[in-house]
Amino acid sequence: MKESVYAEVDHYLCDLFSWNDPILAKTEQSIRDHKLPEHSISAVQGQFLALLANMCKAKRIVEIGTLGGYSTIWLGRTLGPNGKLTSIEIDPLAAEVARANVSAAGLSDRVHIISGNALEILSTMEEDSEPIDLFFMDADKPNYINYFNWALKRSRPGSLILADNVIRGGKLLDASSKDEKVKGVRAYCEMLAQEERASTSILQQVGIKAYDGLAISLVK
Ligand code: DHB
Ligand code: MG
Repeated sequence: MKESVYAEVDHYLCDLFSWNDPILAKTEQSIRDHKLPEHSISAVQGQFLALLANMCKAKRIVEIGTLGGYSTIWLGRTLGPNGKLTSIEIDPLAAEVARANVSAAGLSDRVHIISGNALEILSTMEEDSEPIDLFFMDADKPNYINYFNWALKRSRPGSLILADNVIRGGKLLDASSKDEKVKGVRAYCEMLAQEERASTSILQQVGIKAYDGLAISLVK
């Protein structure tokens, strides 16, 4: 079947800018090899995340949902030697695969992958002397509001709080959905609409991944 024009454009841009380098390609392959969910962001989305990290001059990054480390590498590469990215992954196998990929990317000195329940780990995470500049949630959609509230307390004005997969192919529209992920992202978007401590833009995304979207919240 012919790919959608959205996917074709993704491939075109990816080639044009050489975004899928061997480390990232190997990372994607490792996800397939270990039969992990193929839920990584695309290269085009990775480049966008990296752009956001650079725009807020991120030195401290927290990620929820490492998977094979694909977005972790995109974000980790924006950090200088004193930067720190903590990524939390519930699946120990995925965490192990991600550690190997992060190591191959030469980022083990600044990227720390912790395996376990993210809310529990965050609740025991000691406050850094520096605020979190960028918080990226990409797992456990029913808890998005809880992650947001944690991130907000550790942020500074100008920090970014990002949430992947808030559109879900348009399922976001279904107010009577029984799907916990849909209910989670709906509650999250409704909360953001009322949240006065951050201003939010919800970006619909198309490409090689299913039609979805990213919530981008700028802490005031
Ligand atoms: C799902 C999770 C993701 O992070 C993603 O990018 C796509 C789908 C999911 O759990 O359905
Ligand atoms: Mg995702």
